[in-house]
Amino acid sequence: MNHDIERILYSEVQIAEAVKKLGEQITRDYTGKTPVLLCILKGSSVFHADLMRAIDLPVEADFLIAKSYGMSSQSSGKLKILKEPEIDIKNRDIIIVEDILDTAVTLSALLHTLSLREPASLKTAVFLDKNLGIKKPVSADYKCFDAENEFLVGYGLDYAERYRNLPYVGVLRREIYN
Ligand code: PRP
Repeated sequence: MNHDIERILYSEVQIAEAVKKLGEQITRDYTGKTPVLLCILKGSSVFHADLMRAIDLPVEADFLIAKSYGMSSQSSGKLKILKEPEIDIKNRDIIIVEDILDTAVTLSALLHTLSLREPASLKTAVFLDKNLGIKKPVSADYKCFDAENEFLVGYGLDYAERYRNLPYVGVLRREIYN
């Protein structure tokens, strides 16, 4: 285990099982359709790649960059879209793929923006839903795990752009970010 990690919250095996189950659920729900899996870079890249391969349907992949955190461990509460998807969203079945729901400000803003483009349907698949003890403006349609309010990294989640490549989700040692 990486020395900067205090403990593993979700192991590689647990993650693989949860993503497989979610893929099967989406496969059942979207039978006969060709959903667009919209990856919200960069954190969702790992989850997106695994989820796509767990769905036994024709799917299309696209990518959007939205920033809400910058290099700090606290949310700025602001959303900037830095890269738009290439696929025309109108009349398509869109599944927004997010790695983490913290305040859900990002997802809420994305849902608002994308719904104006008149998709046939717009759903959300979230890897981790963090319990901040607050009421969130939106909730995920599909999710893998709930998590307590700790500083989590790995499986796409970063601190100052590091740790995304850890195959598990771990709690970052406090001295690393304090
Ligand atoms: C993270 C994460 C979500 C968002 C969640 O993105 O990937 O998009 O923050 O936070 P919220 O629920 O409080 O809005 P970040 O801006 O850190 O970019 P990254 O994916 O490139 O790491």
